[in-house]
Amino acid sequence: MATVLTGTDVKPVLKWAGGKRELVPEIREFYKNLSPTKYVEPFFGGGAVYFDILKTLGIQHKETAIINDVNQDLIDMYRNIKSNPKELLYCCNNLKKEYEEHGYYFLREKFNGLDSNKNNIERFEGIERSAALIVINRTCFNGLYRVNSNGFFNVPKGSYKNPRIVDEDNLYKLSNLLPKMENIRCQEFDEIKDINKGDFVYFDPPYYPLNETSSFTAYSSSFGKNEQIRLKDYFKKLNESGVYVILSNSSSPFIEEIYSEFQILKIYAGRNINSKAQKRGKIPEFLILGDSVVSQ
Ligand SMILES: C[S@@+](CC[C@H](N)C(=O)[O-])C[C@H]1O[C@@H](n2cnc3c(N)ncnc32)[C@H](O)[C@@H]1O
Repeated sequence: MATVLTGTDVKPVLKWAGGKRELVPEIREFYKNLSPTKYVEPFFGGGAVYFDILKTLGIQHKETAIINDVNQDLIDMYRNIKSNPKELLYCCNNLKKEYEEHGYYFLREKFNGLDSNKNNIERFEGIERSAALIVINRTCFNGLYRVNSNGFFNVPKGSYKNPRIVDEDNLYKLSNLLPKMENIRCQEFDEIKDINKGDFVYFDPPYYPLNETSSFTAYSSSFGKNEQIRLKDYFKKLNESGVYVILSNSSSPFIEEIYSEFQILKIYAGRNINSKAQKRGKIPEFLILGDSVVSQ
C-alpha cells in the first residue's frame, strides 16, 4: 500500500502546456523572501509554482492557499485527488487496462461521450472522469489539453510504448499538499473575492502569442487581447491594494506596452544559463513585478 507522505517534494500530476517547472528557479528569486498572509494562484494548470511555494515559504501555507482554474475537469480532478486519492488510483488502474486493451481513442470517445460516428455514448462522469483525464493526459500527444469549438477534447494519441500513468506515492503526497476543498476553485481569474493586502498572487495566464502565427499555447485563442487587458487592470487593482503580485507572460510588444508602468524582467528557462552565448537563440519570457515585490 502507498504511504502518506508529508514532504513538499512533489511533481505535478499532469503534463500541462505552459507548465512552469523549468522557470521556477528564476521566479523563486522574487518570492523567496516574502511572508504573505496567504498565497493565491488564479491560473493553476499543473501547479508547478504552488508546490515550490510550499517548499520555499513553508508547508503551513497550504492551510490558507487558494488555487483556481477555469477548466472544470482539471479542478474536479484536484478535488478528487484531495478527497479520495485511493478510489482515484483504483479508477486510473482500471482505465489503464482499458487503454491497453482498446487503445487511446476508445477512452477519448468515452471522455467526450461521442463515438467516431458522432453518436452520443455514455460519458465518463465523477471520479472516473478525473481518472480518465489523467490517463488521457499521459497518453495523448505531448500532454496537450485542447478542445474544439463544441467543447470536445480533440488531441490525437501520443506515441508512447509503455507510458507511466500515475506515480502512486506522488499522488498521495499531492493529496496531502492541496489546499482545503473550498479553496480549490473553478472561477474566472478575477472572481476570487477574498484577496487582501499582504496576500501574494502569482498569475500564469495563457500567454499572448509572440506573433500572429504563433500558436504555442492551445488555449490562447479564447484568451485574446480583451482578456489580457482585463487581467492587467486586475493586476493593477491588486497592486494598488498592497497585494504582492507577480505575473508571467510572453515577451511580446503588446504585453510590454500594457504593463509599461511596472517593472518587467526578461527571464530564461534553465538556472545556469548566464552567458550571452548560451542565451542566444533562446526566447525570453516576461516576469512582471508589482510594487510591493520590487520594494521588499
Ligand atoms: C499557462 S497555464 C498555467 C500553467 C501552470 N502555471 C503550470 O505550471 O502548469 C494557464 C491556465 O489558465 C487557465 N485559464 C484560462 N483562462 C482562464 C480564465 N479566464 N480564468 C482562470 N483560468 C483560466 C487554463 O485552463 C490553464 O490551465
